[in-house]
Amino acid sequence: MQLTIHHYPNVASTQTTAKDYLALGAEEGTVIIADEQTAGRGQFGRVWQSLNGNLHCSLILKPPVTLEPFYPELAMVTAEALQNALQEIIPDLPVTLKAPNDLLIDGKKLGGILIEVESGVLIMGIGLNIKEAPEGLDQLTTSLNDYIEQSLDVSDVFPVVMRCVWRQYTQWISKHGSENKA
Ligand code: BTN
Repeated sequence: MQLTIHHYPNVASTQTTAKDYLALGAEEGTVIIADEQTAGRGQFGRVWQSLNGNLHCSLILKPPVTLEPFYPELAMVTAEALQNALQEIIPDLPVTLKAPNDLLIDGKKLGGILIEVESGVLIMGIGLNIKEAPEGLDQLTTSLNDYIEQSLDVSDVFPVVMRCVWRQYTQWISKHGSENKA
């Protein structure tokens, strides 16, 4: 796994910072992670409340252009990777997926994925409530620490999430790459 990680205490949005890195020539596998975001964004122009102790990161991906027709699958592929990662960390956690990009527990939002395309490159944003569930949104929310006795930190979750996301992404490339050759 070839990841280059840039960690910031505070940014507007890791998506925007990732795009800044991209403009400077960042390679696939560049990851921006921030403790807090002041202008985190979700799907459909929603605000993504970004509290310290939760995971906020964006990964630069440069899949082959021939895979463009399959890009819409990637949010769900990533959601499955997050589900696998969480099951590895907390085996009995009842995480469910809601297409195209939601992670839920008991119907409450635990995390989400935002994929933006910039000059043919994908910026995959991942938000996961670890310590605290944001309040005041138009949907019910929860966090990992609502479900476990010992408190988890971003540092417990981030490496597992990255390993699972990268594995799922490379499998997705192999799957469709071999379909294209057939
Ligand atoms: C959603 O469910 O609506 C998607 C939420 C995606 C939030 C993440 S947090 C890291 C990255 N930076 C952002 O501004 N948004 C994504």
